[in-house]
Amino acid sequence: MCGIIAYIGPRDVRPVLLDGLSRLEYRGYDSAGLATLDGDRGSLSIVKKAGRIAELARVVHESTLPPAHQGISHTRWATHGEPTDVNAHPHADGSGDLAIVHNGVIENFQTLKKQLEAEGHVFASATDTEVLSHLIGRAYSESTETGSQRLSGAVKQALRGIKGTYGIAVMHRDHHGLIVGARRGSPLVLGIGEGEMFLSSDAAALLPYTNKVVYLKDFDLVELRAGQFDIQSLTSGRSAFEIEELGFAPDAAERGGFPHYMLKEIHEQPQTIENAIRGRLNAEESSALLGGLNLSPAALRDVERVVVLGCGTALHAGMIGAHMLEDMAFVAAESECAGEFRFKNRPLPRNTLFFAVSQSGETADTLGALREARRRGHIGLGICNNVASTIARESDGGTYMHAGPEIGVAATKSFVSQVAIFGLLTLLLGRMRHMSAGTGTGIIQAYAQLPDQITRILEHQAQIESIARKYAQARSMLFLGRQYHYPVALEAALKMKEISYIHAAGFASSELKHGIIALIDPETPTVILCPQDSLYEKNISTIQEVKARRGPVIAMATEGDTGIKDHADDVIYVPRTLDMLQPILSIIPLQLLSYYTAVALGRDVDKPRNLAKSVTVE
Ligand code: AGP
Repeated sequence: MCGIIAYIGPRDVRPVLLDGLSRLEYRGYDSAGLATLDGDRGSLSIVKKAGRIAELARVVHESTLPPAHQGISHTRWATHGEPTDVNAHPHADGSGDLAIVHNGVIENFQTLKKQLEAEGHVFASATDTEVLSHLIGRAYSESTETGSQRLSGAVKQALRGIKGTYGIAVMHRDHHGLIVGARRGSPLVLGIGEGEMFLSSDAAALLPYTNKVVYLKDFDLVELRAGQFDIQSLTSGRSAFEIEELGFAPDAAERGGFPHYMLKEIHEQPQTIENAIRGRLNAEESSALLGGLNLSPAALRDVERVVVLGCGTALHAGMIGAHMLEDMAFVAAESECAGEFRFKNRPLPRNTLFFAVSQSGETADTLGALREARRRGHIGLGICNNVASTIARESDGGTYMHAGPEIGVAATKSFVSQVAIFGLLTLLLGRMRHMSAGTGTGIIQAYAQLPDQITRILEHQAQIESIARKYAQARSMLFLGRQYHYPVALEAALKMKEISYIHAAGFASSELKHGIIALIDPETPTVILCPQDSLYEKNISTIQEVKARRGPVIAMATEGDTGIKDHADDVIYVPRTLDMLQPILSIIPLQLLSYYTAVALGRDVDKPRNLAKSVTVE
């Protein structure tokens, strides 16, 4: 997944592009580049560099790049071709008159590249994107169109010949004052300023400049000029669009004084819960209100099975959601790794309801699984954070997380938000089946306490930081949990892996004896989730089995449980809530544990190696 920023207007384009790229760096950061079109001299200049955006900024500042008022730029997460200067975007065609930046994958690029090479085209890079620049350049040179249609028409013709996904921005030296953008499958947002226009892969990067945006749809093509825009469709003439106002404040995507976005987002989680449940609790009926599902009570009542689709953290939240639905709403439910489901051939009841869970709303595997479920005639709903994202727009309905931008690559508040939303769904469906009004009221009351309970946990972060420092040199860590806490163990292990780079694995505690116990030794700390619930004694036994083999144990326990100190080396306490909502509290200290471990090891917490915030490629 990559990030695109384009600008046209009165400003000096260079700082606008570099600032925008820095806000998109979470989308990929192995190389970056920009192109400017200087009207005075009619020169199209390209500067691009392997490495972080700071490296590109250094090169730009040292270059003789003339001031310009339009440009396109890109920060890359390599899919085809190593992260090198030559593979970085923008890419030119053979004429050197055209530059393009691209987010997505051109699946048939090898075939096209061979055809173009046979025609004499010479390629500089190993990327799929460069094929698109040559296709546009060829269509442009053969075109008989005049004016902006010559460039837009060439872009349309080239895009009709490719298979795959794209979000692009294109400039040509013959067309000073014009930028062309287009999307299919990769997000692209038009930002509307006063006498200036923007394109971005993520609306959050436009916040310092404008809050008026158009979320381009698949097959849209847009012509940008300083004071106007024109949206066309690749498939049919004009394209309808809606100008939306961004709901979050300009500083929402800033760090707010925190050293890392991840820590800021961990601390936002009391508000995350409030945002997830706002207007969705129905105290009068001891139920929930989820109008966005677009399903009547009768249709919801008839659901025979729920399947939750997701990847990574979203999958872990989905596992908890499925467990809630079975445990409390008595609905048959399961979670599926989206990348696996889409290629399975599962016999499912006709009235199976699917949920695609995705913070970004752009994860290719989750989108593919949603499309497969809907192709089979099932209803597919979305639980997404990014309004108007592809998954949100292709779903039959759904529930927005309203969590605000999540910039840290490691998902934190999105997990808590998704689990909270599944609790609302459980309340709604449960009250249509066997859940009593009293139980429903108890769930609503438990929700009301969660923000303060999270705040209480965050007040103990210094203790968690000291535990993190104590074990930061471990080669490996294990995380064990039962029932609702098995997915919590998986999520906590994922957090630890992806930002500290320590090998970490999560397991169901019951599995310890079936082989995992061979890993226990004095150098391998085990985090054991041990809330004071109906399985407490079994979890104490698990702690004892690890201790008997001299394995260090970090217990996550319920406030007031002093007895557990006799068993564990370190104890992290969290408040008690309902079993179904306990994962929301239990994950908080484990997010902090991974965060402080990564900090102790000097990792790049917000942009861990090899990762990107949203995996829009398969
Ligand atoms: C989690 O910390 C990772 N960043 C990753 O596993 C992520 O959860 C996964 O790629 C799904 O992303 P999505 O929620 O945007 O679909």
